[in-house]
Amino acid sequence: MTPVESIRREGGKEIVRRVKEALARVVNPNTGRSVVAGGQIGELKVDGEGSATFVFSLRKGDPGVLVRQARAAAQGVEGVRRVRVNVQLPQSAPAENTAPGGRTAPAGGTTAAAGPAGARGAGGGLRPGSVPAPTPSPDALAGVKRVVAVSSGKGGVGKSMVATNLAALAASRGLATGLLDADIYGPNIPTMFGEGRRPAVTGAKGSEMIVPLEAHGVRLMSLGFLLEREQPAIMRGPLIAGILKQFMEQVEWGRLDLMIVDMPPGTGDAQLSLVQTVELDGAVMVTTPQKVATGDVRRGARMFERVNTRVLGIVENMCGFRIPGTAEIVDLFGRGGGETLANELKLPFLGRIPLDIEVRRSGDLGRPTVVSAPRSPAGRALSEMGDRLLGDLERLPPRR
Ligand SMILES: Nc1ncnc2c1ncn2[C@@H]1O[C@H](COP(=O)(O)OP(=O)(O)O)[C@@H](O)[C@H]1O
Ligand SMILES: [Mg+2]
Repeated sequence: MTPVESIRREGGKEIVRRVKEALARVVNPNTGRSVVAGGQIGELKVDGEGSATFVFSLRKGDPGVLVRQARAAAQGVEGVRRVRVNVQLPQSAPAENTAPGGRTAPAGGTTAAAGPAGARGAGGGLRPGSVPAPTPSPDALAGVKRVVAVSSGKGGVGKSMVATNLAALAASRGLATGLLDADIYGPNIPTMFGEGRRPAVTGAKGSEMIVPLEAHGVRLMSLGFLLEREQPAIMRGPLIAGILKQFMEQVEWGRLDLMIVDMPPGTGDAQLSLVQTVELDGAVMVTTPQKVATGDVRRGARMFERVNTRVLGIVENMCGFRIPGTAEIVDLFGRGGGETLANELKLPFLGRIPLDIEVRRSGDLGRPTVVSAPRSPAGRALSEMGDRLLGDLERLPPRR
């Protein structure tokens, strides 16, 4: 080892020590102990670039803000340029030696196991399905009358667009409405509502609550408000479900008539665990008209059946494009696939939303189409579809 390398290495150890010290000042209100002494921090590393990484083992009942406090503590250490936290849920299956993301210390990095969580933190592989979904406490969402998931077999079919407009429409009809963005693969609700602020935290120490942001009359919560850009890549189903649980229990939703959940695309374990985490009144499936897309929806409908969740209906999106300045309509992705499928599965067909440049335009403006272009073809179709769904919801028996 050259003297320079040696000095570097010493410096690396020093910064790890200081990060550990800072983390030791973060106290878990449930135990009264520091998160370091309590063994909740593991695999603490700081590389030569000042990038700090550690595993945070969240325990049952821990407030979600604890992770953010730990992140902030590490971030405050001189020489630390960025912080990456691998959150592990209490339910993580033990002793499988697959570290999440399989990260190794970068060249020149320094490693210190900061307590017993180091070993445990290395296990627990957050593979989808390896962990049971956390059960929300009975009073979570007690003040919410209806919870509706918007789901799709695959991404890019307009799920978030439908969720956004449903929520904005419900709010414009006088319903107290919340929108929970559970799509970790692409949390784009913040963009669609033109919201980039970080939500505030209120409440006494130990019982902090996140205050949802409000835009166009809709209370919003999204992973996009809380996470660093690169973080969603290390998220797996159980972790998502855990965060969703926190979004229900530790977000001050208040009394809501309707909560819309923008689900991650697909029908895998991540989606299944989400469905089991929330007590849903039902799900709306979004599809494009062509066969490949409807096949995915069929699988999605089956998934909901498996967990006894009612499918409230199917929305066919991106159907028909009117060539500007003419009356000619081109069915770019075909037509009728959603309706045919709804008939086949004996599910309500909720409506057809045309491809409309106003949808893209309003998305860019950070405004739901039903607000910014209510008289556009898509705006009108979305309102009709939404009103129909709101009517259907009124006729359902209460959630509990
Ligand atoms: N009916 C439509 N007309 C025009 N653009 C649309 C329409 N539906 C969705 N889009 C656009 O397609 C993209 C994907 O929609 P999005 O709602 O994000 O899909 P998902 O949530 O299913 O991945 C977005 O840029 C959205 O603005
Ligand atoms: Mg989306």
